[in-house]
Amino acid sequence: MVVKELSITLILFLSLCLSCYGTFSNLDEVNEYESCQQRYNITDTDMETEISDQMVRHFKPRLVVNVDDYGAKGLGTDDTKAFRKAWNAVCKSPISAVLIVPERKYLVKPIVFSGPCLSSITVQIKGTIEAPSDTSDWDGKNIGHWILFNGIKNLVVEGGGTIDGKGRNWWENSCKVNKSLPCTDAPTAMTFYSCVDLRVENLRMKNSQKIHLSFEDCSKVQVSYLTIIAPNTSPNTDGIHITRTGNMGLSDCTIKTGDDCISIVSGSRNIRIGNIACGPGHGISIGSLGANNSEGHVANVMVNNVKLTDTSNGVRIKTWQGGHGLVKNILFKNIAMHNVQNPIIIDQNYCDSIHPCPVQKSAVQVRNVMYKNIKGKSASDVAVRLECSSSVPCRKIVLEDIHLVSDGDVTQGLCENVIWDEVGEVFPACAS
Ligand SMILES: *[C@@H]1O[C@H](CO)[C@@H](O)[C@H](O)[C@H]1NC(C)=O
Ligand SMILES: *[C@@H]1O[C@H](CO)[C@@H](O)[C@H](O)[C@H]1NC(C)=O
Ligand SMILES: *[C@@H]1O[C@H](CO)[C@@H](O)[C@H](O)[C@H]1NC(C)=O
Repeated sequence: MVVKELSITLILFLSLCLSCYGTFSNLDEVNEYESCQQRYNITDTDMETEISDQMVRHFKPRLVVNVDDYGAKGLGTDDTKAFRKAWNAVCKSPISAVLIVPERKYLVKPIVFSGPCLSSITVQIKGTIEAPSDTSDWDGKNIGHWILFNGIKNLVVEGGGTIDGKGRNWWENSCKVNKSLPCTDAPTAMTFYSCVDLRVENLRMKNSQKIHLSFEDCSKVQVSYLTIIAPNTSPNTDGIHITRTGNMGLSDCTIKTGDDCISIVSGSRNIRIGNIACGPGHGISIGSLGANNSEGHVANVMVNNVKLTDTSNGVRIKTWQGGHGLVKNILFKNIAMHNVQNPIIIDQNYCDSIHPCPVQKSAVQVRNVMYKNIKGKSASDVAVRLECSSSVPCRKIVLEDIHLVSDGDVTQGLCENVIWDEVGEVFPACAS
């Protein structure tokens, strides 16, 4: 038992060390990033201290709270109040606390789990948390959220359970599905806002009203072993959305939805993504950025070891005309494409609007982007499309070891307003 726990602790510690949150400011450093764990130069003494800290934490008494203790029934009746009370109990606990959601199905209406809390908290979801399917349950409430974790430090959410957004009614009322309806917002199933030292792992999410999982203004985040599934026809059901968040690792997830698998938008930096299976959906996106002439910044993103299947895009950077700011130091590598419409794409004329977007002079600058070892099948003839702004061209774009083929007679690379380099075998080659 003790041996097992010690080995778990060791693995935990090693994975923490190896996650290597670094900052890197140019492309060379991006490449170097892989070997950064060596730079940590972890000594035996460091290791012993860390392990004993972990052991102390592990064997420290913890408060265990079960939502059923606060009146949750798990019978399909409204359990919101019980969840709220149980949260208050764990949040004001002076010793670290565990909130358990047992293996039943709990109906929870829009809810906010707010910090700051007195100690670290683990939320263990073993059963299913289900949203109300009736959209009127949001009347008078913030329509942007279903489950919101707000301002919490040292939070773990895990447990192998399911978060079910019951999104069908929201999808049917979307202007993207029924063009005669007005465009309105819909809730994000689970949002982490302003959280620090956050771990989210081993959960299933399905049929969200809009985005499944959103991280906003968070730092030091580890996300892994999630399965996110919604129909490929469901509108705006992004898998994981990242905004103004830094020092984040995201790995070992399967994401099949109706919108982006992962979208990284403004203010995000030092994001490391690996071992993701994506599709159907819209692929992995940086952006959109620069909407409504806004300023957008994303820096230091590594996407490694990803498989994309039946998606509309593979790895994409999208910006609206008229914005300003910078996307820099992006590395996409070891990516397998299976039947992807736009495997490699930079779109600086992005326009997701019912009105056409006017031509504008300014744009978010795209710089230092490397595509390395990207192979597979393109569902369209244009496998590489780098469509940059004529007034603010893309700079320092590197294509290395690319092999993307379509079913058609020709496979093309279209590159406009780009300064690029090719290394190794690159097919299709860029042409303007
Ligand atoms: C690692 O740290 C030890 C002790 O601080 C030092 O002696 C050694 O030179 C370091 N090694 C490297 C590669 O920096
Ligand atoms: C679209 O919405 C209109 C207005 O509510 C409704 O009458 C129509 O039946 C809807 N169409 C579909 C296909 O659901
Ligand atoms: C741009 O601004 C308009 C008007 O305020 C708003 O309706 C629209 O949602 C904004 N677009 C984006 C993508 O933020």
